[in-house]
This record gives sequence, C-alpha cells and structure tokens, in this order.
Amino acid sequence: MISQTLTLPNGRTLKNRIVKSAMSEALADDHNNPSQGQIDLFRRWSAGGAAMLITGNTPVDRWHLEHAGNFVLDPLSDLDQVARLTEAAKCGGAIVLAQLAHAGRQTPQAVNPMPTSISTEEMDLAGYGTPQQATNADLEAVVEKFSRSAQLAQEAGFDGVQIHGAHGYLLSSALSPRINTRHDQWGGPLENRARLLLSVVRAVRMAVNPEFIVVVKLNSSDFQKGGFSHEESVLVAQMLEAEGVDFIEISGGTFETPTAYQHASQKESTKAREGYFLEYAKAIKAAISIPLMVTGGFRSAEVMNGALERAETDLIGMGRPFIIDPEFPTKLLSGALEMAPAVERGFPPASELPRGAVLNWFCEQLSLLGRMGDTNLELSVEDGHERYLAFIQAATGALLSARTETGLQRPGS
Ligand SMILES: Cc1cc2nc3c(=O)[nH]c(=O)nc-3n(C[C@H](O)[C@H](O)[C@H](O)COP(=O)(O)O)c2cc1C
Repeated sequence: MISQTLTLPNGRTLKNRIVKSAMSEALADDHNNPSQGQIDLFRRWSAGGAAMLITGNTPVDRWHLEHAGNFVLDPLSDLDQVARLTEAAKCGGAIVLAQLAHAGRQTPQAVNPMPTSISTEEMDLAGYGTPQQATNADLEAVVEKFSRSAQLAQEAGFDGVQIHGAHGYLLSSALSPRINTRHDQWGGPLENRARLLLSVVRAVRMAVNPEFIVVVKLNSSDFQKGGFSHEESVLVAQMLEAEGVDFIEISGGTFETPTAYQHASQKESTKAREGYFLEYAKAIKAAISIPLMVTGGFRSAEVMNGALERAETDLIGMGRPFIIDPEFPTKLLSGALEMAPAVERGFPPASELPRGAVLNWFCEQLSLLGRMGDTNLELSVEDGHERYLAFIQAATGALLSARTETGLQRPGS
C-alpha cells in the first residue's frame, strides 16, 4: 500500500504514500535565505524516495518567525537561492511544498517583543512577547501576505504550499475559543473563528495556478481545555474541502500542549502508540472526500499499510525518521526495512526529561545534518537539548545583528 500512487484533486500524482512532514530546519542564513547546507539536505531527502517533501515553517512575515533560522518568503527574499532549494528538493522526483506560516503569539520574544496575534491572550510559557490584538486591517494584511508568499513560492519552483493551520500559530490560535476572545467577525462562533484560515486559503487559491497544490495542516484538537475541539476540527475540515484544498494533514496540540511530537517509552505498547492521531482522523476522514494525511508516530510498514488498507488515511506523514536516516523511504518501500528509525523509543519518558528536551534533541540532530552533513546520535537527550538552546541563542543574536546592519526596522516600532 505505501508504494501505491495517489492522484490529488488537482491532478498531480504522488509516486507513493510517504510524505516528509514539515520540520523547522532553522538552517537559513542571517537574512533568512536558505543556506547551502539546507539545499544539500533537501537534495538528500529528495533522493531518499519520499513522494512529497514539505519544508519546515516558512514565515510569510519576517517579524513573525517561529525560529531565527527560518527561511522566509517575502519581497526581501533571495528568490534565486530559494529556487536552488526547490531544484535540489525535486531532483529525486519528489513533489515539494513550502509550509507557509505566521507564528502569531508563538513568535519568540527576541524576534519580536510585540507580535501580532488574534487577541492579547499571553502565552503560558516564558520567552514570548506581549501579543498585540490584530486590527481588521492587520488581519487583511496577513491574508495578503500568505497570498504573496504563495505567489513567490510558485515563482521559485515549489509545486505547492501547505498553509500551517495547526500547533497554535496565528491561524490555529484564531480557531481556538480559548485564545480567540474577539467579538467581531473574526471571533465568536466557529464560522467566525475559521474566517482567517478560510480567507487565507481562498486568497492563496486565487493567487496561484490551478495545478499548484494547496493543502492545510490542521489540528485534530488543541488538547487544551476550552481550545479548538475535535468536533470543531471535523467541521473545519469540511469547510476546507469546500474551499478546494487538495488534502488536509492532521496533527494536534500547541506549544503549550505539545502533543504533535509524542514518544512512546519502551514500557508502553509501541504499536498502539504508532499513528497517534489516527483515532481522531477517523471522524474527519468520514466527513470529507478529499485525501487525508495523518502525521505522528508512524514507524512500521505494517501499521502504515494497515491504516491505508482500512482507508483511515491516504498519506503517511513522518518527521523524525527523516532526520535519523534521510534515505529510509526507499528502504521501507523496497521491503529492505520493516520499520522507519524510532530512536526516540530508547529515550526516557518525557516526564523524566526537561520540557522540550526530546524535540530539541531532534532539532539539534537536524541542524547537524544540515550544517555538518551528519547527525551525532551519541549525544544524550540532555546534551542535545542544551546544545540546541545555545544554538537558538546564537542564531537569534546573528539575526538581530544582521537586522541592525541592514537597518531593518519592525513596522510600527
Ligand atoms: C525537529 C522537528 C521540527 C518540527 N517542525 C515543524 C514545523 O516547522 N512545522 C510543523 O507543522 N510541524 C513541525 N514538526 C512536527 C512534525 O511535522 C510532525 O508532526 C511530528 O514530528 C510527528 O511526526 P513523527 O512522529 O513522524 O516525527 C516538527 C517536528 C520535529 C521533530
């Protein structure tokens, strides 16, 4: 099953069912353009056999990055350099999407101390600035920026874009009644909370060619009291289908409730923990007729094939295995491997580790893979975590210096 092709509603065909889901590479240069290491990494992933590669967070606005090292798609971008990235990413026959994002209140404080958000609701975590409630004009500008970035993505050779509507970033926070406390046309009933995401999808669809792929990453739930619920997720999926998206990727959680990257400790039944959003995807799958991609925890070919055979999903999204072995899809597809790498299973349970340690360990490995060409799997979870925190600080310092050198000023500051 994982070897079968899939044709999307817009006529583009994926050569198999394995997709590299978005992983923030944080490998851009100080001006937020792709680095050579990032380009080389995408070349390697493309040759590795996946049908589709989705870039990590690619902000539409350089004042709302998720990480100082994001590569940005805006009028200041070096499109020739971005085109080198898309060319490399397509060399092995993969279809390549840019994940367009606006970090909203999840923008690191050092990047922007006063990020635009859907409301003034502050993060429950340290390191984030004071959210400024967007005006009507701000939200219209956000829609415009997504559509502008999609056009730039098309110009630079991407096959499509994924609009990031998950994980607590701006579009996701707008869906959440907990964060979106507005009483105007952008808040209140679901129809209003979904307006920003749907307006972005509509504007992007209108700005690009019909064969350009437009997809959305959506939370199956925020897994947060008073947040975007599973029942609402099913309804939004139907709204997205009506807007003509080519497929929906299902994930879950926010920075405050990081359920997207779970790891099964050895004590638990690992098979049961594979594809941990499948259970939630069922109701979504039943409600729509466009393809669905589920991401989170898939590792064994058996579980992937089972989910495809039972039509619980159409595409298998994976992240972490691509860091450990960029060439694993070819091996899994040929049967040479029965399982994608699952090194996280050897880690202690999350409850015994510092917050974010496992994710930061993977981020550090991804960074090493891009900058040095190889990972260092000998690194302990704690050391990887610490090194990545230091790397974030260094990258942020370099970004701020570059901004000062070029005289780049935050609008309104
Ligand atoms: C290092 C790392 C960076 C990630 N960055 C992003 C990102 O930029 N955008 C996104 O939507 N998800 C991001 N994710 C989540 C992955 O897309 C995926 O949903 C998650 O890792 C679960 O899949 P897996 O179990 O196959 O790793 C990231 C995950 C990891 C491990």
